[in-house]
Amino acid sequence: MSERKPVADWRTDWDHLDPAWRDDPYPIWAELRQRWPIAQTGRFEGAYLPTRYADVKAIAYDTEHFSARRVVVRDQYLDTLMPAPPITSDPPNHKPEKRSMLPFSTPRSMLKIEPKTRVICNDLIDGFIANGQCDAAQAYTRHIPVRVIAQMLGVDPADGDLLIKWITQILELGVSDDDSFVAGMTEMTHYFHAEVAKRQNNPTDDLIGEMMRAEFDGQPWEPERVIGALRLLMIAGIDTTWSGIGFCLWHLARYPEDCQRLRNVLQLMPLAIDDGCDRGMAKAHSIIRTYWPRDLVAGHGSRTTITTV
Ligand code: HEM
Repeated sequence: MSERKPVADWRTDWDHLDPAWRDDPYPIWAELRQRWPIAQTGRFEGAYLPTRYADVKAIAYDTEHFSARRVVVRDQYLDTLMPAPPITSDPPNHKPEKRSMLPFSTPRSMLKIEPKTRVICNDLIDGFIANGQCDAAQAYTRHIPVRVIAQMLGVDPADGDLLIKWITQILELGVSDDDSFVAGMTEMTHYFHAEVAKRQNNPTDDLIGEMMRAEFDGQPWEPERVIGALRLLMIAGIDTTWSGIGFCLWHLARYPEDCQRLRNVLQLMPLAIDDGCDRGMAKAHSIIRTYWPRDLVAGHGSRTTITTV
């Protein structure tokens, strides 16, 4: 993996992997929005970065000209598409696919997993409380979503380290390292194939089992669609939440006065969580995604993506 060149000019050379973006993206976005609302870069095989809501919305809804099929912004794009429905689906598939996943994501189904999530968090805290300190990201944050999602999917909780490895290979190293991306995606796909195969004759009531029973156009989802959706749940559900939780803790550790305010007024907790997740995500590279002009997804024309924050 080569060293990244520092950004020379955010208007013509933007890079969301630059340390300045990672440390504090807000002033960069604010200046671009005001003075250069659609920035460009020669990196990522050429990409535009619209920063105003109206432009982002116009592109996201213009499904006639732009496709959602490639999501992750990469230094070099691989020829193979790795579908992860519904996020990589265009109309007419996107809506029915999303609809068939909704029953697993209602507030009521989330409430059902709350007690187990509390147990997971308490167990992790028990692991370091006697030391009086810990590396919160390593010892706490990154294990929570992995264990919760492993439980929802119905896979072996002992596979948590594997899931962490794949997310790191795909979303952290994989953005600029093709081998790492392909290795993570391939291993994860094989893993889900095996999980689906196990359930073919022994249906389960976990999320994998439910997705195998989900219907699309009146037919059960074919295995490839189930596996693609599992890839998405793994990536969308883990990287986002560990960034959000990590950011909240990091902020509270740096600003003890905010920590005290939260202790004094516990009703502020939902607001603090919302804000923390939002800011944590803004620093994570996963907040940025591409829309490719439709003809380019098919491999023709110049390779210029539209990337939105
Ligand atoms: C703090 C936590 C989270 C944040 C901030 C977040 C954020 C987002 C964002 C911004 C998108 C839209 C991406 C785009 O279209 O460009 C998205 C899509 C999605 N997320 Fe999350 N997410 C979080 C947690 C989760 C979890 C826990 C799951 C499931 C286990 C999940 C599943 C999905 C799915 C399935 C989509 C695709 C929806 C579609 O294509 O219409 N997310 N998320």
